[in-house]
Amino acid sequence: MKITYYGHSCFLIETNGKKILFDPFISPNELAKGKVDVGSIECDYIAVSHAHNDHIADLESIAKRTQATIICAYELYEYFSKKGLEKFRPMNTGGKWSTDFGTVKCVSAIHSSCLPDGTYGANPMGFVFNTYEGDFYYSGDTALTLDMQLIPRWADLKFAVLPIGDNFTMDIDDAIEAANFVQCKKVIGVHYDTFGYIVIDHQQAKEKFAAKGIELILVPIGESIEIN
Ligand code: NI
Ligand code: MN
Repeated sequence: MKITYYGHSCFLIETNGKKILFDPFISPNELAKGKVDVGSIECDYIAVSHAHNDHIADLESIAKRTQATIICAYELYEYFSKKGLEKFRPMNTGGKWSTDFGTVKCVSAIHSSCLPDGTYGANPMGFVFNTYEGDFYYSGDTALTLDMQLIPRWADLKFAVLPIGDNFTMDIDDAIEAANFVQCKKVIGVHYDTFGYIVIDHQQAKEKFAAKGIELILVPIGESIEIN
């Protein structure tokens, strides 16, 4: 699987010829300026964890241009259909959907969710993917939660994408515990450095994970890695 990082919690997974984009927030992100061209991102699916602007800022423009299918909470489907977007898989926590990349299951996340104009944004979610090339988990914005211990029942994770920036989500120590809960030794860190509240020390973060036998990967913005 190829993973490309676009900054904050936005990344693209390419698996079995399908491209799945997560939480598009690029054009307002100062750290992504000059590194990512929003207008050239191609994708077949866009998975949206929750309604906060730092996860949906570029959703409309990318979805309109690519005609990607948006995987999101039912209430976000209602909201974005009124904005003229057409292709959706509306879901809710606990549900799963099997399609051409494999299966995606929506799992709980402990956070809040509200659209920028105040519209109710439904429950925030994480996603467990079972693809033909392996399983992965994206927690979305969340606190550490015991619910994560259920995830090994549904997936044998190759990697987990977890927020590590603290303040709005888990910090590094809680993300290490989350990796233990989901039984995964490879973590891609997201939701750090974008704002002053969530700036982290990269070296210290990697050392803390390594001390617990877990690899923390911090992909430079605009770059890709391969996980086999
Ligand atoms: Ni959020
Ligand atoms: Mn966020």
